[in-house]
Amino acid sequence: MNDLNRRAFLAAGAAAAAPLVLPLTAAGASTTAGVRRGRGGPVVISSGNGLRAVIKAMEEIKAGADPVDAVVAGVAIVEDDPDDMSVGYGGLPNEDGVVQLDSSVMHGPSHKAGAVAALENIRNPAQVALKVLRRTDHVLLVGAGALKFAKAHGFKEENLLTEKAREAWLRWKENLNADDDWLNDEQHVDRDARAERAEQLGIPWHYGTIHCAALNAAGDVSACTTTSGLSYKIPGRVGDSPIVGAGMFVDNEVGAAGATGRGEAVIQSCGAFQTVQHMAAGLEPEQACLKTLKWIADHTKRRSLLAASGRPNFNVTMYALRKDGLWGSASMLKGGSFTIHDGTDARRMASPALFE
Ligand code: GLY
Repeated sequence: MNDLNRRAFLAAGAAAAAPLVLPLTAAGASTTAGVRRGRGGPVVISSGNGLRAVIKAMEEIKAGADPVDAVVAGVAIVEDDPDDMSVGYGGLPNEDGVVQLDSSVMHGPSHKAGAVAALENIRNPAQVALKVLRRTDHVLLVGAGALKFAKAHGFKEENLLTEKAREAWLRWKENLNADDDWLNDEQHVDRDARAERAEQLGIPWHYGTIHCAALNAAGDVSACTTTSGLSYKIPGRVGDSPIVGAGMFVDNEVGAAGATGRGEAVIQSCGAFQTVQHMAAGLEPEQACLKTLKWIADHTKRRSLLAASGRPNFNVTMYALRKDGLWGSASMLKGGSFTIHDGTDARRMASPALFE
């Protein structure tokens, strides 16, 4: 880990011992006796592709909507966008050319979650997840059962594979080689090389995903994560997005957290749950994100997932929103970003990286 970002490492390490005062990154914070506090809601945070989502969610909250309805309305704009190939309609398909969507939603005040996984033919999985939250005693519905449930609630089936996504999938299929997800005992996937080859061939390839969390003026928190998941995945593969505690988690007494990037790493670290627990223990949101990423890096053992320097060769970005309105984000590697609406302005910002 010789390319570990020194500032981030020191921050994460020191923060484990005691809450650390870092340079101000979050607007709307005040400092009392060296401890930063947010100035409350409304605040909406989202992944880098969520600028329209935070604007929409903030409008909804200001109009009096529950934060859980606000985040689902926000991400719907991106789910509906055929040009965003990471989510909903137009999302990249699995290796059979079928779009399978994952999503989870959590409502802070009732501590109830709803989620769907490997859902086909319905463009707004977050809305179906919200129905699971409100209209069932369950948390997670998958595959054919999730589709049947969605249709029972009036969701319309449609083909989600756009021409652009089909052509990308076809180019990938025509170039099939060591880059698929079927590994033998000896085989390793070099993710850096895979991403580079895909880029050279002009084939989009990613883990996709939008996360969005909101806090209202009353201090209630909710969150949502929705995705078409890993491009060209093995059919039935489920990522972190619909797994409560991995791709998203809310504790109304503490705040919310979510993740985008390599879902397998986030599932195996309970990433969002862990980040909320770090905030409960006193860490600021950015530090909580960094601590989770450090944990993921320390627990990444497979050679195929490590760069020559020893750092993970995949990216994960974490997002965190504390109940007092303080927010933050961090990425494993450079290139992560997030969007924020603090009630006045919406903007996109770079997420500090754990590794340079
Ligand atoms: N984080 C999205 C996925 O891995 O499916």
